[in-house]
Amino acid sequence: MKYLDINTPISELQDYLTTKGWMDSDEEISSVQKPGEGNMNVVLRIKTNKRSFILKQSRPFVQKYQQIEAPLDRIAVEHRFYSIVSGEALQSHIPKILGYDAAEYLIIMEDLGHCEDMSSIYSSRSIAVNDLKKLLNALRQIHQNEVPHDFPENMEMRRLNHQHIFVLPFLKDNGFQLDTIQVGLQELSLPYKKDKKLKSVIHDIGMIYLSRGETLLHGDYYPGSWMTEAENLYIIDPEFGFAGFPEFDLGVMAAHIIIATTDATCLDTIFDLYNSKAQKSLMTKVAGIEIMRRLIGLAQLPLERTIAEKQYLLELARKMVMS
Ligand SMILES: Nc1ncnc2c1ncn2[C@@H]1O[C@H](COP(=O)(O)OP(=O)(O)OP(=O)(O)O)[C@@H](O)[C@H]1O
Ligand SMILES: [Mg+2]
Repeated sequence: MKYLDINTPISELQDYLTTKGWMDSDEEISSVQKPGEGNMNVVLRIKTNKRSFILKQSRPFVQKYQQIEAPLDRIAVEHRFYSIVSGEALQSHIPKILGYDAAEYLIIMEDLGHCEDMSSIYSSRSIAVNDLKKLLNALRQIHQNEVPHDFPENMEMRRLNHQHIFVLPFLKDNGFQLDTIQVGLQELSLPYKKDKKLKSVIHDIGMIYLSRGETLLHGDYYPGSWMTEAENLYIIDPEFGFAGFPEFDLGVMAAHIIIATTDATCLDTIFDLYNSKAQKSLMTKVAGIEIMRRLIGLAQLPLERTIAEKQYLLELARKMVMS
């Protein structure tokens, strides 16, 4: 496999893309840029004399932290997910796939333009109801797709996620240096790591996450996967997708809205706007776990919150898990 990245000579990229038939013979690359922040994969914006497009390639490791192994097949999951959801209902909300090379673990897709992801909700501490509506309509459309029986299990990615969502944040000796994130965070995390009843519920939900379900999930439905540009909303990065339970995507989404706004009534809003079959109590538990792991786990968010604010969120989250 050839590793392509921002330092690959333009002539090599040009040769590869032309040979694959993805660029016209009279088309020339004018620049290669990084379109935005990402950790897991190589993502490049390739501009030519005619247009621009995005190249995304997976590696057997996390691109930003190359000592951490990661399943290479995640790009195949992403490709498969996009091909399933590319019907009419969602096509204006996902990038068009222009090419896929299974041997080189890469996809070529439509450049959505200079959008921003929705991480700004953590600093604005709010989200427009209209955006919530769009996000839930898109999610319902994703979930309504029938999952082909040969859709990848994506088990390695799920095991990775399982560790970071349901296990490591709640281990006393997980080695995370929480006080380097914020002084006082380590101490704040301790009661949750000692709470046997809480941990038992988290364990059970983790088992559901690892089992097969009926619904096509995005698998990482949080502000980093939501892109907006003016009135347009796009969903990207479905590499954690699998056939699972709808409350997982819903709960993760709700968690991030609550982290941003501290408003737990959004659970009702989200559940009502989704307007399809799901269990509210399961969604609420998932949301509680996701809030906790984002505060005391390794995958931190761009959050400026005092220790008191984090304590409030953690207590709210504990109640949600135990409700
Ligand atoms: N089709 C696209 N059009 C425009 N920009 C894009 C497109 N796909 C990705 N980007 C930009 O590149 C960034 C990284 O993409 P993506 O999230 O797919 O990569 P990743 O390596 O899977 O990231 P992460 O480590 O967060 O999972 C996005 O946040 C976005 O800014
Ligand atoms: Mg990703």
